[in-house]
Amino acid sequence: MKIVLIHGQNHKGSSYHIGKMLAEQFSENEINEFFLPKDLEHFCMGCYACITDEEKCPFYAEKKKIMDEVEKADLLIFTTPTYCLRASAPMKAFIDLTFTYWMSHRPRKCMFSKRAVVISTAAGAGMKSATKDIQNTLFYWGVPYIKEYGIAVQAMSWEQVSDKKKARIKQDIEKLENKISNKRNVYVGFKTKFMFGIMRMMQKKGLGSSPEDKEYWKENGWLDKKRPWDK
Ligand SMILES: Cc1cc2nc3c(=O)[nH]c(=O)nc-3n(C[C@H](O)[C@H](O)[C@H](O)COP(=O)(O)O)c2cc1C
Repeated sequence: MKIVLIHGQNHKGSSYHIGKMLAEQFSENEINEFFLPKDLEHFCMGCYACITDEEKCPFYAEKKKIMDEVEKADLLIFTTPTYCLRASAPMKAFIDLTFTYWMSHRPRKCMFSKRAVVISTAAGAGMKSATKDIQNTLFYWGVPYIKEYGIAVQAMSWEQVSDKKKARIKQDIEKLENKISNKRNVYVGFKTKFMFGIMRMMQKKGLGSSPEDKEYWKENGWLDKKRPWDK
């Protein structure tokens, strides 16, 4: 199993350790990790160059290194500390910089069969809204199986997390690994199909963002009968 971890932080704190713990639970795995902002030190400038040609994004080369691995992965694990009740700023920058992967632009066929887990820790509150930012993105990428794990650790570092809490996290992560491993087939649900249908109508009617986006949909056969979840 190919696993890609995307950390919304450079440091190795509680969120990082929980993500790593989950990845290491899977046997026979190949793990690739990216740290933000270290591996993508930019913000979207809103130039819209990507809308006509993704390669024209000024940060295309760095993005490609990450997204090539994301596309090859079976399981995506995102980790982020909860900052002011949301995902970290570098994680948000990553989300913005990959917005052409959304169903409203150029979704990738490979996304419609992936699994993903979004992990966040907070001192006390806000993990749900922090993971939601990333869960939304994954939904719009077309990922059909998304799990979330948020926990209040009452700590500023992994070392400060109590042994009792660490034992509970370990148990939770083992259960999560079991759930994911036992789910042999992943199906695209109604909500994704419905959203894809809306985006398809938009492209068909020429209401998309660019003629290039429409051409992409056409080339994939999605304006006709083909769908990205077809086997
Ligand atoms: C800038 C900043 C904002 C934070 N905002 C929150 C918050 O909204 N809610 C909360 O409970 N903890 C908050 N915290 C605490 C962290 O979420 C908490 O320590 C978390 O476990 C850190 O994860 P890490 O060890 O992976 O860095 C904040 C910490 C920082 C540095």
